[in-house]
Amino acid sequence: MQNLKEHITHLVFKQIGAVSDRQGNDTYIVGGFVRDLLLGRNRQLSDVDIVTVGSGIELATRVAAALRPGLKVSVFHNFGTAMFRYDEIDFEFVGARRESYRLESRKPIVEDGTLEDDQQRRDFTINALAICLNSNRFGDLLDPFDGVTDLENRILKTPLAPEITFSDDPLRMMRAIRFATQLDFVIEENTLAAIESQSKRIEIVSKERVSDEINKIMLSSKPSVGFKLLEKTGLLALILPEVQNLKGRETINGIGHKDNFYHTLEVVDRISKNTDNLWLRWSALLHDIAKPVTKRFDQRLGWTFHAHNFVGERMVPKMFERLKLPLNEKCKFVQKMVSLHMRPIVLSEEEVTDSAVRRLLFDAGDDIDDLMTLCEADITSKNPDKVIKYMANFQLVREKLKDIEERDALRNFQPPVTGELIMETFDLKPCREIGIIKSAIKEAILEGEIHNNYEEAYQYMLKKGAELKLVTKEN
Ligand code: CTP
Repeated sequence: MQNLKEHITHLVFKQIGAVSDRQGNDTYIVGGFVRDLLLGRNRQLSDVDIVTVGSGIELATRVAAALRPGLKVSVFHNFGTAMFRYDEIDFEFVGARRESYRLESRKPIVEDGTLEDDQQRRDFTINALAICLNSNRFGDLLDPFDGVTDLENRILKTPLAPEITFSDDPLRMMRAIRFATQLDFVIEENTLAAIESQSKRIEIVSKERVSDEINKIMLSSKPSVGFKLLEKTGLLALILPEVQNLKGRETINGIGHKDNFYHTLEVVDRISKNTDNLWLRWSALLHDIAKPVTKRFDQRLGWTFHAHNFVGERMVPKMFERLKLPLNEKCKFVQKMVSLHMRPIVLSEEEVTDSAVRRLLFDAGDDIDDLMTLCEADITSKNPDKVIKYMANFQLVREKLKDIEERDALRNFQPPVTGELIMETFDLKPCREIGIIKSAIKEAILEGEIHNNYEEAYQYMLKKGAELKLVTKEN
């Protein structure tokens, strides 16, 4: 039997062992901590799961008292669990259980059980490994389902028949795909088949839990692995039908369009090499989301996806709301990226003029760098000449952006002449002329006729006022 004592040096583990010895209960570390330890995965340790053959609540309370009088223990009587935080790590305690779920509900029927009962009701063999903390067996690895072999072969497999494990908690179907993506593991054949046959049951799981898993897939180094598995198993159509709809290509009169699902996944993988920003990655996933609904075949032009960026922008909050993702500035950011995602490309296809760059900077504001990152990821052409051309043009756009930003400070544009000043100068009450002058000034700045400063804007206001036959107060 493998012994891992040299790896479990944290003082809390020793303390848990000592208290368990005194109480006469066997206690183990289980789950992700053991898995990651054996995988040599270097992650910031944030939580550890402890299972004891006895009361988890009692053990947590006693260990906490022994560690530091007054250390706060959170108790969840409904679940029979308790936790405390020590050294920035959450230690979560539970009593070993036998558990089964009823088909129509997530509420389990729970009874006390042995360690092995507890291990077999966990999700995957690699998450069912346990390390003993009692002094006489401190560090012993207990692996009744051969999880170590599955770790070595990089396989995800359920301890029980997969139908039972997934029916106990259908979120585990998503977890299988998430772990496969995060850890670069393969889902064993029968396990994968069970996900396909039970995918429909994901609908009983709360949206928040599902979205948490999507986000973890999204934050992996190659998210496409997960999205392809979600698609293959039928889960994607249930949780992200809009993304599912991107799949497929149609041909009319011998003219086809690209498969937007695979294109999107390529964009997500490409952007993931350059950013860890979850919402920028979401923007990549959703940038073409309205292509299926805006798709038309035009005899002259071929396939068109007219205004898919604006239609997509409106789809984003609906999707976020359904998925219980934040509807605050994160959602607005994704909307903005979706709506602007074609602008730098269009710009670089044509001659890169100063005024077009100025307009882009004005519309994107502080999100301009993220927008450029998205656009660069969006270039997935198989034609190397095209890619070289686009990338060179992007370089030019970036240089111009920098140059114009230095001169005109357009990122967070504030009108250099306010409505109040216009009213004051021409002795006006609120009226449409004020708006006309304000937007004429903005246009003149964007077109490069004047610089973004008070002096030039003031003179321009006087000129515009005269054109509108307004008289200044002094006259
Ligand atoms: N678990 C389970 N079924 C679930 C969720 C969790 O069987 N639906 C078990 C697994 O044994 C898992 C442990 O509870 O290892 C802890 O779960 P969690 O903290 O969610 O995940 P970790 O495996 O620790 O992995 P990560 O921290 O990467 O999410």
